[in-house]
Amino acid sequence: MKIKSVNLETVCGITSTLPTTRLPEFALLGRSNVGKSSLINCLCERRNYARTSSDPGKTQTINFYNVNDSLYLVDLPGYGYAKVSRTTREKWGRMIERYLTTSPNLSLIFLLVDSRHAPTEDDLLMIRWLLYYHLPVTVIATKADKLKKSVRDGQLAALRSDLELPDDVPMIAFSSVTKEGREEVLDIFGEATA
Ligand code: GTP
Ligand code: MG
Repeated sequence: MKIKSVNLETVCGITSTLPTTRLPEFALLGRSNVGKSSLINCLCERRNYARTSSDPGKTQTINFYNVNDSLYLVDLPGYGYAKVSRTTREKWGRMIERYLTTSPNLSLIFLLVDSRHAPTEDDLLMIRWLLYYHLPVTVIATKADKLKKSVRDGQLAALRSDLELPDDVPMIAFSSVTKEGREEVLDIFGEATA
């Protein structure tokens, strides 16, 4: 699919009601700083449309990006961000959980994990939770540009094994810097909106 337009249509704060959309939704889930907003910018070829930051905890709202009037990219706040108070984290956890379990148009969840490191405890909890609820998930291994060629294949295989991914859960190596994986993700959109 070619991205022709992107428009931040709805921003949901912690107390907002989630919008009912009429298009398939693709959610971006992953710990804080893993590269969710950067992935949106990379897909849309916009530099800082989805606000990114080297400071974790940048995205603090659920942002619905309308793409081509044919789908939504849903940027979720990152989990595992220690500087946010526990009450706030719990409220966000509940809102994200509600979004993921009740959105009628949720087509696919992209779970983003950092390709350079072993998954965190939160990553493991999240993937188990998604699989337990039989939610459709594709794993995206981010920051793949940072992997040395010599360790790359082993690192990606270890990630798959640490996450205990069933064979039918795809994993895409992605880099917002080199645009590796971009076409693969756009193909998924193409199939879902054909
Ligand atoms: P929150 O909004 O806090 O949940 O974070 P996020 O997941 O949206 O992360 P964001 O896209 O803001 O990126 C965090 C940092 O990682 C920024 O400094 C980005 O420049 C950097 N980053 C993101 N993607 C890549 C990538 O593919 N390669 C490299 N080298 N750096 C990346
Ligand atoms: Mg973000």
